[in-house]
Amino acid sequence: MLKEILDSAREKISLTTIIKELQDARVEFLGKNGLITQEMKKLGSVSAEEKKKLGQEINKVKQELLSLIEEQTLAIKKAELDKRLKSEKLDLTIPSRPEVTGSIHPITQCMDELIQVFSKYGFDIKDGSSIEDDWHNFTALNIAENHPARQMHDTFYLKQKDAENKSKLLRTHTSPIQIRTMENEKPPYRFIAPGRTYRSDSDMTHTPMFHQIEGLVIDKDIHMGHLKYVIIDFIRTFFEQPNIEIQFRPSFFPFTEPSAEVDIKMNKGDKWLEVLGCGMVHPNVLKNVGIDSEEYQGFAFGLGVERFAMLKYGIEDLRQFFDGDMRWLSHYNFSSLDIPSLAGGLTR
Ligand code: DAH
Repeated sequence: MLKEILDSAREKISLTTIIKELQDARVEFLGKNGLITQEMKKLGSVSAEEKKKLGQEINKVKQELLSLIEEQTLAIKKAELDKRLKSEKLDLTIPSRPEVTGSIHPITQCMDELIQVFSKYGFDIKDGSSIEDDWHNFTALNIAENHPARQMHDTFYLKQKDAENKSKLLRTHTSPIQIRTMENEKPPYRFIAPGRTYRSDSDMTHTPMFHQIEGLVIDKDIHMGHLKYVIIDFIRTFFEQPNIEIQFRPSFFPFTEPSAEVDIKMNKGDKWLEVLGCGMVHPNVLKNVGIDSEEYQGFAFGLGVERFAMLKYGIEDLRQFFDGDMRWLSHYNFSSLDIPSLAGGLTR
């Protein structure tokens, strides 16, 4: 009986070609109700002498089957591997796929380039908060209560109130950083303040969030010549065009007097393009932060980062900046290694 079982098991095991068949064979002979297991159970009903002899035989058969199964497992695995090696070809001459790396957003890139130019004149970088109060965003900047500039700015107001019970707001420009810096630090000042700004405006040429850089220089003998030098040199350096035409056009801002708008012509014959606002800081602004305007004076300017990026990189539609289209981003493909991102930590 045992001999027959052994013969049949040997044959079955040797004929298996996949692991699943081998497992089935194992269960058939050595499983809980397997044929060998059943033989073991019979031991209970034989004499002690028989039991010893038969028990040894069964054990021998069991050991043989276990080692047969192990051998067969190795054989099946080897056969499978050989088959795979024959069918799968590895072509080592195929070029590897390029690694996909991210790129710097054109706004961040532009911000970094702008900051780099101003570092040339020794400007510090100041940071501010997106949420502002009426005083810092408007009043201290000489924007009167009923001044049209308040409407001009289409402000997003928050439910939260400030100390004077006026609604807090999302800053409409980076100019409040001028006020906060002058309130907290002693003159002289020479800094730029990059950051996000917000206005309730959305069309082809306006987005509700955009970026500005504010600049402020205050010292004992700063005059309009300094303003003109910095602006002209900055524009020529940033656009890498030493002969770019630049004009200062008289304008109005409540926080500067006189005020000017700056226009540029990229190529001869083009029309003038407005790029920034600037002027000599209004004495009222200095008074509002407790600085004697007889002793200190200086200039300020404010520019839109999107505008500079569009002109420098040839971007036509403002809204593309905020679409989050990966194809558009990888088209510009600014590498993070070009220059370390200074703006990154500042554009909160
Ligand atoms: N704050 C102005 C705006 O958002 C920009 C500006 C113009 C800032 C002239 C200045 C300045 O500091 O002198 O439109």
